[in-house]
Amino acid sequence: MKKIALGLSSLAISVAAATAHAGEVEVLHWWTSGGEAASINVLKDLMTEEGHTWKDFAVAGGGGESAMTVLKSRAIAGNPPAAAQIKGPTIQEWGDLGFLTNLDAVAEQGQWDVVLPQVVSDVMKYDGHYVAAPVNVHRVNWMWANPEIFKKAGASIPTTWDQFFEAADKIKAAGFTPLAHGGQAWQDATLFEAIALSKGSQFYSAAFVGLDDATLRGDDMIDVFKTFKKTRDYVDSGFSGRDWNIATSMVINGDAAMQIMGDWAKGEFTAAGKKAGIDYVCYAAPGTSGQFTFNIDSLAMFQVDDENAQGAQQDLAKLMLEPTFQETFNLNKGSIPARLNMPRDKFDTCAHASMDAFLAGSSTGDLVPSMAHGMAVSSMVQGAIYDVVTNFYNNESMTAEEAVDRLARAIKASM
Ligand code: GAL
Repeated sequence: MKKIALGLSSLAISVAAATAHAGEVEVLHWWTSGGEAASINVLKDLMTEEGHTWKDFAVAGGGGESAMTVLKSRAIAGNPPAAAQIKGPTIQEWGDLGFLTNLDAVAEQGQWDVVLPQVVSDVMKYDGHYVAAPVNVHRVNWMWANPEIFKKAGASIPTTWDQFFEAADKIKAAGFTPLAHGGQAWQDATLFEAIALSKGSQFYSAAFVGLDDATLRGDDMIDVFKTFKKTRDYVDSGFSGRDWNIATSMVINGDAAMQIMGDWAKGEFTAAGKKAGIDYVCYAAPGTSGQFTFNIDSLAMFQVDDENAQGAQQDLAKLMLEPTFQETFNLNKGSIPARLNMPRDKFDTCAHASMDAFLAGSSTGDLVPSMAHGMAVSSMVQGAIYDVVTNFYNNESMTAEEAVDRLARAIKASM
């Protein structure tokens, strides 16, 4: 009798401990495409296994513009979610406003300063303290191609922009759409920055990190705008308003030959059961082999009152850095782990190329932050660049010379 009573009371204690610890985290993110959802579900499941409740707050719209608008209105109303997908310099903006919570204890326990490359850990800290946890590193300057279409068109995979237009002419003549593209400002910016990168990492950094006026107005930038506008002739007429993953599906389905897009596109190929090197091929965007525009996804944690929610937040941050999570998540997402020294064997050749370029680029200056994906400049400057780039792409009469002038002025006004 006594034994049973004892057993029951220890059971009661352990249940109480678990309940005291279990909390709800509301997570705001924009991962709603096939590959993205498969990735975030890995984290959702792990949190649920830990006994926590995951309240999903998904705001559709790749690139996160809509998600950020929703986040701002929740924060203004005094009710931000416990965790939100916030990246790059924007983390600093939220830190300045005093919204974020300290993750130093978890970071110390998990030795984040040791297991993360500095280029990643720097972004996760506000005022020297961890306030966000990274899940991955995306390489943005990729080109995804359908090899069957290239074969049918008798075209070769381009490694320069000149070659790109040669191949695109053949592909068009063979009746296919050369370039799969969608109609969102961030997609335009993704293509635009890939073209800028092909002018060299120094040029890219002077323009989008240094915001150097002479570089922004120079001949190389005029040339970048010209090349950018020229791609418009190789995009199908239905591109306006199209989501990025629908553009990816055009390459998957054999309607379009190429897409210039970060490696979240690979998540779509993977979700469709396609294999790298067989069903599709990945190459650096023309003229950018060995270069790497990085885009680090992270969840920043907001201050919440509820103690259980605080515990759940800390657990979430801890789980995100676990090697098993980093592996499974990134196999689905198309990116590479944010953690250093992870086993490479389960990753495909595209991921290997990305890992190599990341490591090599760290010491050569070829590892640069993506402007289009919120890694290089404040959200104000980024918005100003988006506006000029998108207006230019959709305005037949604006010249490249006018565009660089508008770009330089818009950046100056938003700095
Ligand atoms: C990026 C994000 C990626 C990917 C993409 C499209 O901003 O970093 O993870 O999801 O948007 O939604």
